[in-house]
Amino acid sequence: MSQVVNSAKEMQRQCLALQRAGNRIGLIPTMGALHEGHLSLVRRAKAECDVAVATIFVNPAQFAPTEDFSKYPRSIDADLGLLDSVDCDFTFVPSADEIYPPGFSTYLAPPAVAQPLEGVFRPDHFRGVCTVVLKLFNLAPADVACFGQKDYQQALVVRHMVRDLNLPLAIEVCPTVREADGLALSSRNRYLSEGERRQALALSQALAEASDLYRSGGRNSRVLAERMQAVDAETLQELDTIDRSAVALIACYVGTTRLIDNMILS
Ligand code: PAF
Repeated sequence: MSQVVNSAKEMQRQCLALQRAGNRIGLIPTMGALHEGHLSLVRRAKAECDVAVATIFVNPAQFAPTEDFSKYPRSIDADLGLLDSVDCDFTFVPSADEIYPPGFSTYLAPPAVAQPLEGVFRPDHFRGVCTVVLKLFNLAPADVACFGQKDYQQALVVRHMVRDLNLPLAIEVCPTVREADGLALSSRNRYLSEGERRQALALSQALAEASDLYRSGGRNSRVLAERMQAVDAETLQELDTIDRSAVALIACYVGTTRLIDNMILS
């Protein structure tokens, strides 16, 4: 059974004690509403480390007032069952007060790679992500932290933060897990009606077409897709010609749900 820890101090104490005893810790930060994508991260952490620690915290600081913080899916009992099924050792489930106690006022300025793409549409999003991820790294000190490639820019932002601030852990980015028909797993897929679920396939289909075109020699990113941006995989700068490691990213509304997906073109 995954041991549930609610107290920040207790989580920190347990992780430090485990590390002192020579255990490698793999951390899986999540906002809950878990699916197979998250479980693949736990499996990776278990494969690489002695102890896997998942965190479940819907972080208010990364949602704009107009976004879906209050209706973001919360399914703690089901989440804990899923974490048990993959032998996750600890689950840190702090309250909002535990992470942002009264008087909290320190926020992290995110690295430059946070500015384009999602940074344009969600201006304070990565400030909130960096702040909470840094807090989680401090509260659950780990040797490795696992993130999904579906949130490509987030993973890159976290990598840059870890590098720039000399944080003593490695970041693993794990492949996107998809449904059989190609839809990338996302907690927000729960918002989709049946019809929207069908429409949402446009994201992975567009990316697959771009990838096919790339493999058959297409290098003009304008030709690759109208609604997709092909950017340098490291800097996220837009590319006209794909002459280096690149990633095609897509973000769109299906009904009122904003979904993102991406595919590496190399
Ligand atoms: O990807 C997520 O679920 C969140 O952005 C994260 C990394 C847990 C920070 O709240």
